[in-house]
Amino acid sequence: MPKLLAVYGSPRRNGNTSVLLQNAVAGARDAGACVEEIWLNKLKMSPCLEIYGCKKDGRCVIKDDFQAIYDQISSCDGIMIASPIFFYAVSAQVKILMDRCQSFWVKKYWITNPPNGQAKLRRKGLVISVGASTRKNLFDGLTLSMKAFFDAIDTELTEQLLYTGLDLEGDILKHPDYLAEAYETGKIFCNKFQTAQS
Ligand SMILES: Cc1cc2nc3c(=O)[nH]c(=O)nc-3n(C[C@H](O)[C@H](O)[C@H](O)COP(=O)(O)O)c2cc1C
Repeated sequence: MPKLLAVYGSPRRNGNTSVLLQNAVAGARDAGACVEEIWLNKLKMSPCLEIYGCKKDGRCVIKDDFQAIYDQISSCDGIMIASPIFFYAVSAQVKILMDRCQSFWVKKYWITNPPNGQAKLRRKGLVISVGASTRKNLFDGLTLSMKAFFDAIDTELTEQLLYTGLDLEGDILKHPDYLAEAYETGKIFCNKFQTAQS
């Protein structure tokens, strides 16, 4: 049974990305995954202070809610993360998490130091995002950022669900096709681990 993390990055409990991720979680659970959920907006997490206390052993030295997330990421097989587009980027909640995961980057590249930085990625990742506009390059910034973040936490980006034209809370409910796609993608995501593990 794959152990997955679902990370909610919207400040809105019932935001469009939150509803999509809940559908993906339901799909993954129905396919047999064990999923732990993290609502970033409920947590107390400092931004990265760039003091590099993590240089010692790859563990961030700031004592707050990130410590539990560090353990959850370390022990999971895959991560599903959802963020709204805020100014062509991820939400502040997600950006704080990403920056705190510099400790994983330090562990990987400064402490463990895999040959040429080419170590095989241990985890798989699914990204969900939503923006209000329909501009062509709306997700470019988020995708670049997510790939760099995923590399730091040893995660291969395998699935992406990106939807445009959704703004107000509840807009997503007018798109049952998107919700069904999120549910199916959660199932497919979970099945990828079962194939890999069998
Ligand atoms: C601070 C802020 C910045 C935003 N920036 C963008 C943007 O650059 N492009 C865009 O299309 N939508 C932008 N939006 C709209 C959100 O992406 C949109 O409302 C989305 O549906 C929110 O997802 P959520 O309900 O999961 O939080 C912004 C909204 C806020 C509050």
